[in-house]
Amino acid sequence: MAVGIFDSGLGGLTVLDAVQKRLPEVPFVYFGDNAHTPYGVRTPDDIYDLTTAAVSRMFEAGCDLVILACNTASAAALRRMQENWVPKDKRVLGVFVPLIEALTERQWGDNSPPREVAVKHVALFATPATVRSRAFQRELAFRAVGVDVEAQACGGVVDAIEEGDLILAEALVRSHVDALKRKMPEPDAAVLGCTHYPLVQQVFQDALGPEVKVFSQANLVAESLADYLARRPEMIGVGKETMYLTTGNPKKVSDRATQFLRRPVAFTAA
Ligand code: DGL
Repeated sequence: MAVGIFDSGLGGLTVLDAVQKRLPEVPFVYFGDNAHTPYGVRTPDDIYDLTTAAVSRMFEAGCDLVILACNTASAAALRRMQENWVPKDKRVLGVFVPLIEALTERQWGDNSPPREVAVKHVALFATPATVRSRAFQRELAFRAVGVDVEAQACGGVVDAIEEGDLILAEALVRSHVDALKRKMPEPDAAVLGCTHYPLVQQVFQDALGPEVKVFSQANLVAESLADYLARRPEMIGVGKETMYLTTGNPKKVSDRATQFLRRPVAFTAA
């Protein structure tokens, strides 16, 4: 039994932490493609090739279900993978839909026509590749009408977090929020559309102000995974061990992960 959680690097640990707390009995295989992070500046073909290689490795490790806890991979590669690549007995799911369902006040699987929702002005913070894909706006348009989205590509933030330079990450977040506010002075909600950003969520909230509701994915994805596994328990897969795999330097990645999660985490080479 194991469910795979994939990210381009350390950001998916925010999702891993939430799913482990919500589903303590389920073993997880975490895969961080730290040797190739950041994905946010890569082309869709490159992101597709890297993501399929990582997900194949997770299938080998006993996962039948893999969550792409990476918005960039979900935005740039997931649809193509689901259409042409995922074997019939496996599932690969992304992180956009639970977030957009929360934003548009929908229950899981509510496929009724798009309707007016409480939020009207939404700020999206994400990587350059996610912003370019327009996947967020597309998924939103299936569910809501009359929502104005302003997207801000947050260059540099993922690199700074991966390098453990939180002072730089925080300075960059403040400048990206300023840039967003020049385009949309009064957002009523903000979406942190990259799994690395919850590690600096308070800086986003402080820069945006207390009146802006900040949506971040970890708990939303955990709830939606719990709901999915209750309906499809057979997707838990055959792997029995929790594993942390990385394409990067296991010692360096373990040190950073331990620092972020505030508990010992030991990565091995993928
Ligand atoms: N953390 C990933 C995301 O959610 C990708 C960051 C990156 O590798 O650029 O988008």
